[in-house]
Formats: sequence, structure tokens, C-alpha cells
Amino acid sequence: VRRFVVIGQKARGDGDFLLVDIPSTSGRLDSLLSALRACLLVSHGVRRDTVLYLVLLGDPERPRCVRITGSAARYLRPDERSLAVTVQKALRAPAQRGQFGEVRPGIATLDGGLEQVLPELQGSQLFLLEPGAPDIRDSDLSAPDATFLLGDHVGLPDALRSAWLALGARALSVGPVALHTADAITLVANELDRRAAG
Ligand SMILES: C[S@@+](CC[C@H](N)C(=O)[O-])C[C@H]1O[C@@H](n2cnc3c(N)ncnc32)[C@H](O)[C@@H]1O
Repeated sequence: VRRFVVIGQKARGDGDFLLVDIPSTSGRLDSLLSALRACLLVSHGVRRDTVLYLVLLGDPERPRCVRITGSAARYLRPDERSLAVTVQKALRAPAQRGQFGEVRPGIATLDGGLEQVLPELQGSQLFLLEPGAPDIRDSDLSAPDATFLLGDHVGLPDALRSAWLALGARALSVGPVALHTADAITLVANELDRRAAG
């Protein structure tokens, strides 16, 4: 299983944003929607081996997470508006503290932040994506279950980055230039695809 965790430092977790102006009303959820497309959607299909966790920290009092599971998700379309509607509906449904609840096939939410996601990541090899780290091309990616953590347009909170490394995560870069989150995900997925293809 490939897992991606994207931290949205400003992203609203209440689903209360305008579809006609997603960037400025949602705390840049648009960058997380691009990450969703890059992570799970390929030409004519969904990556069945991939799970994405969006961690929405816009309201520090009430972090929320959305989990999209490629093996179960249905009717995911690649356009931003359609993905925004899917995420908005999920966020508007009631969620439990610390436990994912499915709101439709393959889409689940919980009340809580990265800490509440950790039980799902037990046994997964953890990686941190950041520019300047050792090159992914020289790295062992053979773990059958791997989780890649990325930041949004403002990067990762220091405390969360340190906590992730303290869990044993290995830092990787996808090249010398700082990219948008979705583009970094595409390069990780491509590297994994190439290795899987032998
Ligand atoms: C737009 S970048 C963050 C830029 C932010 N200003 C910073 O300095 O951290 C978004 C995320 O994509 C990932 N990323 C971007 N470029 C990368 C690279 N060359 N190698 C690895 N990860 C990268 C990182 O996880 C980063 O937090």
C-alpha cells in the first residue's frame, strides 16, 4: 500500500467554503485537491493501491482529517470542482473524535489531527518529503507499505516534522527545486511505478 499524508496548515475543516472561490475561502484547500488528483487519479482510473490522508489544521481547536482510499472510492472525477464537492460533503457530515467514519465508499473523516491517523500507519515505512533531503532515486522504497508526508504551500509545522522524524521517518527529496505538493507527489508515484514495473 502507498500512503500519502498531506498537511494543510491553513485548510478549513468544516467544509464551509465557496465552490466559486476555493483558494481564498477554504484556506487553500485547492492545493490539497490538486494533491488528491495527483495521488489517486490516473488516466482512466483510480490508483487502487493508494490511500491519501488530508490533515486540515486551519482551525487549531478542531483539526479534521479526510481519508480517501483508492481501493474503495467510486466516482472520483479529476476536475477540481468535482473533487471539492466530494470533500465538502465529507466535511459537512458528522465525524467522530479519533476514529474514521465512512461518509461514502472510500471517503472517511475523523475529528483530530495527524496523531489520530498514526494507529493506521503502524508497520508502514515512514518517509518525509522535503527539498534538500537525500535523493529518492538513491533510496530504498521496497517496503510493501510506505507512507509519505508532505506539507502544503507553507510547508510543514516544525513540531510535526520533528515528531514524524522521531517516529523513524526517513527524509527524501524529489529533486533540487521546491515544487508544489501535487507535483512532488507525482514524482514519488512515478518513482514507485517505475520500480514496480522493474
Ligand atoms: C510548496 S512546498 C513547501 C514550500 C514551503 N515554502 C517550504 O519551504 O517548506 C510543498 C511540499 O511539497 C514537498 N516538496 C516540494 N518540493 C520538494 C522536493 N524537491 N523534494 C521533496 N519534497 C518536496 C514538501 O513536502 C513540501 O512541504
